[in-house]
Amino acid sequence: MPRKTFIAGNWKMNKTVDESVVLAKDVVAQVGDVSDVEVAICVPYTSLTEVARVIDGTSVKLGAQDVYWEESGAFTGKVSCEMLRSAGVEYVIVGHSEQRSYFGETDEAVNKKVHAVIGAGLHPIVCVGETLQEREDAVTDAVVARQVKAAYDNVSAADAKKTTIAYEPVWAIGTGKTATPEMAQEVHGTIRSLLADMYDQDTADSIVIQYGGSMKPANAKGLLEKPDIDGGLIGGAALNADTFRGVVLPE
Ligand code: G3P
Repeated sequence: MPRKTFIAGNWKMNKTVDESVVLAKDVVAQVGDVSDVEVAICVPYTSLTEVARVIDGTSVKLGAQDVYWEESGAFTGKVSCEMLRSAGVEYVIVGHSEQRSYFGETDEAVNKKVHAVIGAGLHPIVCVGETLQEREDAVTDAVVARQVKAAYDNVSAADAKKTTIAYEPVWAIGTGKTATPEMAQEVHGTIRSLLADMYDQDTADSIVIQYGGSMKPANAKGLLEKPDIDGGLIGGAALNADTFRGVVLPE
């Protein structure tokens, strides 16, 4: 089954509620009727319900940037899957490199989040990727394989099909340095083969693998032409509706 291109904007820690509403309206104006590409915007918790109202009835889906795996309880500052679902969220980013590097997110925590997100009927976007040092040490494949295997520990094939993977070379995030399409395809192909070994080829072929790391209108077409690059997880270029459109509908 051909994979539908999936472009998700990760707004990170940007936009007040009012600013989020303005940007969401601009995104809807630019790509709110696109049907041949799956489009989502992953906005700060504080803007979820207001943005949900803006995108309601359009093809733009709502995403969150993180979650906690417990259903409820004494976890100050955390947000549960059910809370996200009640706000209209469909996609949840888990394991982002900024969570891993700044806030100590472990492979084990990512796995717990994957299970919790799927269990709540939502779809995880599982982030993996190597640091510059790991690339220079030529251990990219080993690092990404470790992250994927850990994230998908005890995840069934049926549930794995409900997930998306985002390969984000850490050294390309927010730096303007983008992996070349060939470099990205090499890792995406490795991930696809790993998924086939972990599950089966049909499952591997059904899982969207996004690229993330300075993806912009100027490089989107070249990246998306590669056989195992099925979309993008977009940071900076998602903070402007025109540039976000340029990634969703690259010319
Ligand atoms: O999650 C996507 C993000 O990490 C990529 O950021 O600004 O390099 O597109 P950016």
